[in-house]
Amino acid sequence: MSIESRSAAVRLQAVAKRFGAVTAVDDIDLLIEPGTLVTLLGPSGCGKTTTLRMIAGLEMPTSGSVFIGGKDVTLLPPNERDVSMVFQSYALFPHMTVMENVSFGLRESNLSREAQRAKAQEGLALVGLTGFDDRLPSELSGGQQQRVAVARALVLEPQVLLFDEPLSNLDAKLRRKMREDIREIQLKLGLTAVYVTHDQEEALAVSDKIVVMNKGRIAQEGTPADLYQRPADAFVADFIGSANLVPGEIVARDRKKKKVTVGLGKSKLVLPANGISGDKVFLVIRPSGVLLDGKAAKSDSLPAKVARATYLGSHWEYTLDAAGQSIFVIQPVGKRFTAGARVYMQLDPAQLALVERS
Ligand SMILES: Nc1ncnc2c1ncn2[C@@H]1O[C@H](COP(=O)(O)OP(=O)(O)O)[C@@H](O)[C@H]1O
Ligand SMILES: [Mg+2]
Repeated sequence: MSIESRSAAVRLQAVAKRFGAVTAVDDIDLLIEPGTLVTLLGPSGCGKTTTLRMIAGLEMPTSGSVFIGGKDVTLLPPNERDVSMVFQSYALFPHMTVMENVSFGLRESNLSREAQRAKAQEGLALVGLTGFDDRLPSELSGGQQQRVAVARALVLEPQVLLFDEPLSNLDAKLRRKMREDIREIQLKLGLTAVYVTHDQEEALAVSDKIVVMNKGRIAQEGTPADLYQRPADAFVADFIGSANLVPGEIVARDRKKKKVTVGLGKSKLVLPANGISGDKVFLVIRPSGVLLDGKAAKSDSLPAKVARATYLGSHWEYTLDAAGQSIFVIQPVGKRFTAGARVYMQLDPAQLALVERS
């Protein structure tokens, strides 16, 4: 008896959801490949939960279709969809033991009682709760309760596992451990998982693919590295990884090489054009993408002045004034610059991007 994966693809086709005058989800298309973990990421109210609930069948789209494993499930109720969901609030039955909670969904299956028990025990082993069978939820920590909720979802062997902000009620240290464990189980069993969070670090840590949502629409989708290195717009650049968005102008274009020259104060930088047609841009500078030096190392070094220096043990944080802009960078502990110092910024091209400025 072992927990198996029957992972299926999920496809949303032109799906919209309106609540009266509010458009919660605005005509989105999305494909989630079988066996992958895809995160819906975005600020509160952008439509993540509504999207997840439409996959679960807890919410009916106003228009569009939902497919699971190639089958149109748009009109099917949740119990006929073969999905299971893990909620922020755990939603355990308080009067039932851990074993009863985990095996609850198997009661209607055609498994023998012994087989149900064995499967539940395996679920508990996967989440690291072997031996907790007879405890009540009130006798568990928040993290343990969420593990029980994950085990309960896993034993159903759903085609798709859904998570709605599953770690939000846990403290920071536990969140990190729990997200690593969820990812490990998902990879081990090859599960299709859709994971909702507003926490960009969590999304970067667990996902095969991230779908960034903004106001009911998909702003950009891609691997964590795609989104970090090639943000499609200022919203994504700002939301994923802290970024300095420094306004600049395109002063020259080399269409053949697909490069542009960006003027930044008195300095000029040549960068990949990134499909930008207008002249107004933001230069996206990551805090770790700058090397500070006391003298101009290269011709494209940008002069700056240290406004603030903060020692944080493992690294320094500097706030710089450059070309009239405030820029936040982190540096290794070896070098040290004091407030007021004149420095030069050497920008790492791999950690630079251009986005359109409207
Ligand atoms: N049942 C509902 N009735 C009315 N408005 C709703 C309902 N559910 C969600 N909304 C609205 O839809 C938008 C998206 O909500 P939601 O999907 O919960 O966002 P998120 O999970 O990204 O925070 C919000 O403006 C929210 O207020
Ligand atoms: Mg939500």
